[in-house]
Amino acid sequence: MSELPEKNIPVTIWGATGFAGGELLRIIANHPHMRLAGAVSRSSAGTPVGAAHPHLRHVYPDASFISPERGLDTECDMAFLALPHRASAETAKRLLGGGAKVVDLSADFRLKSAEEYLKWYDAEHPSPELLGEAVYGLPELHREEMKGARLISGVGCNAAAAIFALLPIARGGLIEEARVECRVGSSESGAHGGEGSAHPFRSRSLRVVSPFVHRHMAEVTQELGLPFEKITMGVTAVELVRGIQCVAHVKLNRGVREADIWKLLRAAWGGERFVSTTPAKPAHLRIPDPRFVMGSNRVLTGFALSEDGTRLLAASAIDNLMKGAAGSAVQSANIALGLEESEGVDMTPVYPA
Ligand SMILES: NC(=O)c1ccc[n+]([C@@H]2O[C@H](COP(=O)([O-])OP(=O)(O)OC[C@H]3O[C@@H](n4cnc5c(N)ncnc54)[C@H](OP(=O)(O)O)[C@@H]3O)[C@@H](O)[C@H]2O)c1
Repeated sequence: MSELPEKNIPVTIWGATGFAGGELLRIIANHPHMRLAGAVSRSSAGTPVGAAHPHLRHVYPDASFISPERGLDTECDMAFLALPHRASAETAKRLLGGGAKVVDLSADFRLKSAEEYLKWYDAEHPSPELLGEAVYGLPELHREEMKGARLISGVGCNAAAAIFALLPIARGGLIEEARVECRVGSSESGAHGGEGSAHPFRSRSLRVVSPFVHRHMAEVTQELGLPFEKITMGVTAVELVRGIQCVAHVKLNRGVREADIWKLLRAAWGGERFVSTTPAKPAHLRIPDPRFVMGSNRVLTGFALSEDGTRLLAASAIDNLMKGAAGSAVQSANIALGLEESEGVDMTPVYPA
């Protein structure tokens, strides 16, 4: 009989009462090597983890949240920060000083320059000296830099969706301009979102949250290597709890055939375990639907090309809490720790959900 792997890598989760924190707890519960050393919360220290996350009560029957002070004293090899930006960078600095590796899901280490951070997040960066070493948290783009890294950022969930939709076309040098539309679920705003996330306001609405400019554009242009002027990005809140559908309307700088686009997609995503492309038929499923990735770390990409070959819909679908947050974070942490990349995050989507 083969032996089960030992859960021998202690990890802490900060912001563990939130949605991304809860998703990290769910993943770690079934991770073959990582074990929960501490679920950190300012507001709920001493209360059971199952009180904030009833779906996890049975997997953490004896675990309670611990205070940030205790969190700093808890030995861990990897800390996952699911905190708001700014609070994250300050915590990251202290944890790195104590010898832990950090994956920070907030926006604090996604951008490469403190000036860009000030522009988009309206605050001086709390730890600009760490920006140089932070690796952007998409393994599909930065796998090699992640090996052995101390500090890995998270991804903006809309940014991740846009990057998966556009990267092959950007690498092909085809983008004249792109209009990125993300249709997003309410969990994107976190467990403590404002009035806009409350059910009576949010439910059944189709609210265009940002028509032209979204913060995540900074990550998208950084990672795609595109000039800012070539992209506009809007986000529409739709009737979903989880999930993002991203459809980018791309004006191409030359006419192409479908076969050219397939080739670019295969070059970008061929061999990527979590990324697949929807087939051309049936036509109504060609533009990916987040329904088919719910609860998983999977990405669906897809496209449709105009008859004259100069206009493209480049699309993707992800679960914002998984590939757009906790799933990518654990996948990245696996690489940083020298583990097999898919450990703990290779779950099958839930359908229908
Ligand atoms: N939701 C998504 O789809 C998503 C996707 C990608 C990235 N992210 C990023 O992940 C992080 C967490 O997002 P979330 O959606 O999980 O938010 P959330 O549900 O609001 O949870 C954040 C948690 O952080 C703690 N917290 C709040 N303010 C704090 C402060 N000033 N200092 C220390 N702790 C504080 C809170 O726990 P206590 O009060 O109990 O300490 C809260 O439960 C954010 O940076 C977000 O940008 C989220």
